[in-house]
Amino acid sequence: MQIRLDNKVILITGGGTGLGKAMAQALISCGAKVILCGRRETPLQTTSQELGASYHVCDVRNYEDVKKMLQKILDTHGRLDAAINNAAGNFLCASEDLTPNGFRTVVDIVLQGTFHVSQLVGSYWIAHKLPGHILNIVTTYTDTGNAFVLPSAAAKAGVQALTLSLAYEWAIYGIRVNAIAPGPFPTEGAWSRLMPPQIEEAYKKKIPAGRYGDPKELGALAAFLLSDLAPYITGAVIPIDGAERLARAQFNYLAEIADRNQLQSLFAALRPQK
Ligand code: COA
Repeated sequence: MQIRLDNKVILITGGGTGLGKAMAQALISCGAKVILCGRRETPLQTTSQELGASYHVCDVRNYEDVKKMLQKILDTHGRLDAAINNAAGNFLCASEDLTPNGFRTVVDIVLQGTFHVSQLVGSYWIAHKLPGHILNIVTTYTDTGNAFVLPSAAAKAGVQALTLSLAYEWAIYGIRVNAIAPGPFPTEGAWSRLMPPQIEEAYKKKIPAGRYGDPKELGALAAFLLSDLAPYITGAVIPIDGAERLARAQFNYLAEIADRNQLQSLFAALRPQK
């Protein structure tokens, strides 16, 4: 069994760099035609040339710009089979230091941008009685919130709600809506904003899988979800994080004791004597 996406036309927002670029690479290797969009032309141009994709400069915060881009895609390719809402913004900041514009900027890119693209592609598919797939990139902290990334936590939780709402509402039209929740992937964009170099090594030790994610693994998951191998998967939010999100579960701290004999002795000592 092979993942194939031949002739499928797929839009990736924020596709010029990082995880967007990795997904583009994976989808193209499965036969898809990929269109990248983003705010900055230089990375879009470089990545498009490197991968054999096409691109549009488009800020997903602007509904009219997204509308125009969608029309251009349809004029050029005659179809659009899927959209990946990957464009994001995030930075570390104590919440008491946030400005309203800092909060709004991230929410606008992540939540408004995802709504703009999803609503426009969805209404096109519904009007033309076509199936389609929306794939949203969220995070592993959508259920818990997360200190120091308040705008992102709030916006991504909103995107998760949007994913589940649309999956149910649009299933009747044959539109699938899913989300991938990546944990720690060391892309330049994320690491330069979110990972102080002094804590990187200690942080890695806290990931049960013992390593960071490879963007290729995320690309493979996206390709599978968008393919005809996954027609029954909709309304799913799939974590890809080496089990990092589970570290907070109450007794998981015990797994940090690497010597399992020592652990078994500790458990045995607690066992009531017969
Ligand atoms: N800490 C606190 N506030 C910050 C900040 C930081 N590190 N970075 C930006 N802001 C605030 C700015 O001060 C500004 O608010 P103000 O006008 O009240 O001062 C507001 O956010 C907008 O910043 P600006 O740089 O003008 O916006 P932008 O549209 O150029 O950039 C960001 C958007 C802030 C999201 C920027 O980080 C970005 O472009 N990110 C894209 C890629 C990315 O974040 N990838 C990571 C994904 S994991």
